[in-house]
Amino acid sequence: MTKTPLRNKASSFLTDSFHLVGGATVALLLVWVLWSFLNPTNYFSSSVSEPKTTVSEVFTPHDCAEGAQGVNLRYDPPAPTFYDDPSLSYSIEKPIKNWDEKRKEWLKHHPSFAAGARDRILLLSGSQPAPCRNPIGDHLLLRFFKNKVDYCRIHGYDIFYNNAFFHPKMTKFWAKLPLVRSAMIAHPETEWIWWVDSDAAFTDMDFKLPLERYRDHNLIVHGWPNLIYENQSWVSLNAGIFLIRNCQWSIDFMDVWASMGPQSPDYDTWGKTQKSTLKDKLFPESDDQSALVYLLLKEKEKWADKIYLESEYCFEGYWLIIVGSLDKITNKYVEIERGVRRLRRRHAEKVSEYYGELREPYLKEAGHGKESLRRPFITHFTGCQPCSGDHNQMYSGESCRDGMEKALNFADNQVLRSFGLVRHDVLNSSSVSPLRFDFPA
Ligand SMILES: *[C@@H]1O[C@H](CO)[C@@H](O)[C@H](O)[C@H]1NC(C)=O
Ligand SMILES: *[C@@H]1O[C@H](CO)[C@@H](O)[C@H](O)[C@H]1NC(C)=O
Repeated sequence: MTKTPLRNKASSFLTDSFHLVGGATVALLLVWVLWSFLNPTNYFSSSVSEPKTTVSEVFTPHDCAEGAQGVNLRYDPPAPTFYDDPSLSYSIEKPIKNWDEKRKEWLKHHPSFAAGARDRILLLSGSQPAPCRNPIGDHLLLRFFKNKVDYCRIHGYDIFYNNAFFHPKMTKFWAKLPLVRSAMIAHPETEWIWWVDSDAAFTDMDFKLPLERYRDHNLIVHGWPNLIYENQSWVSLNAGIFLIRNCQWSIDFMDVWASMGPQSPDYDTWGKTQKSTLKDKLFPESDDQSALVYLLLKEKEKWADKIYLESEYCFEGYWLIIVGSLDKITNKYVEIERGVRRLRRRHAEKVSEYYGELREPYLKEAGHGKESLRRPFITHFTGCQPCSGDHNQMYSGESCRDGMEKALNFADNQVLRSFGLVRHDVLNSSSVSPLRFDFPA
């Protein structure tokens, strides 16, 4: 039942390179179905509370001196930092020492950034420098990008979208690693870098990463230990979306991870090694996902205790099993809101997180499993190749297109609601209607 993955060498870049097919994928789908229902309360760490501040407390005169999030964007003291060290490089090929101390020192000099540094997230995504070959590819990428911007705006995260190769030889799926490394240096104020493939969409605009759960880990990926260690499968995890801590461990880990990339003289050898180690890997080229599985297998002692394999919620999920349930999920949320007035109260977009938390108790019984009718956090269009259009032959181009349309509009409806609009037909992006007051009472 295993088919040869179709890989287009000419155009693939970043996510436009993976075709997940075959038995192992089916297995992954099964695992996806078996999401654990454990501990649903942890997803929103702070508790919902009533505001206690008065207007006069809020409007203090010095508010004007600070940036939008209480950080000072106009201050860089002359005291030297790592930026002044000519030997320090953004390049993934140049190791860095004592990064944690260097970051800490920078934060000390920039106290307004130090305050929220522990939970700060920078989302990274990107796509190829050239136009897409698929005639609607650039339009789709724009919509995927818009979706990420929406999610970040709602949660106050920074976002960087990249259209350049940060290392001339690290293209395709390897392109993200030099970017992540540079982003760590460019953003010492951020604790986490969150790489999200261009073909992935946030389909739960309220859900927040349970950062508290990752306090002892540095790299978080969607994956399953048994498929890694027992089955040695190259699809035992998905490297298309990961959260990585801005710290020395990550810099060291990425040095090793990237050493299997196309800039290495051993690139071909690594491809062979991966193929012989990972039973279901059929193509001979070394890729970042196989490299990650390989490191977990071969250097488990060294790295594994800081790598969190998340499988309890939809850190990223396969679109083919998700899109069919989106209508039912919408109905479930409507039903909940019909019964609870405060959940359907009109509100400013800026306070969306508050309403996300309010809804949580009503979703608790839903758990996080496939059948839960909870909105899947991230829907990943693995194999659809929106930019090149070279979708996996396992399904039709139309099912990919409809799936993307549906998921993006499903997500966008959550955003449009704060603007008083809705798309009743999620397969028709042009049809928006005003949302009546107190919907869906
Ligand atoms: C993983 O390996 C076990 C034992 O070899 C096997 O029984 C199982 O079917 C494999 N699972 C997948 C998903 O390939
Ligand atoms: C999509 O919606 C627009 C605006 O409501 C409408 O004019 C158009 O006919 C719809 N397209 C389809 C395919 O239903």
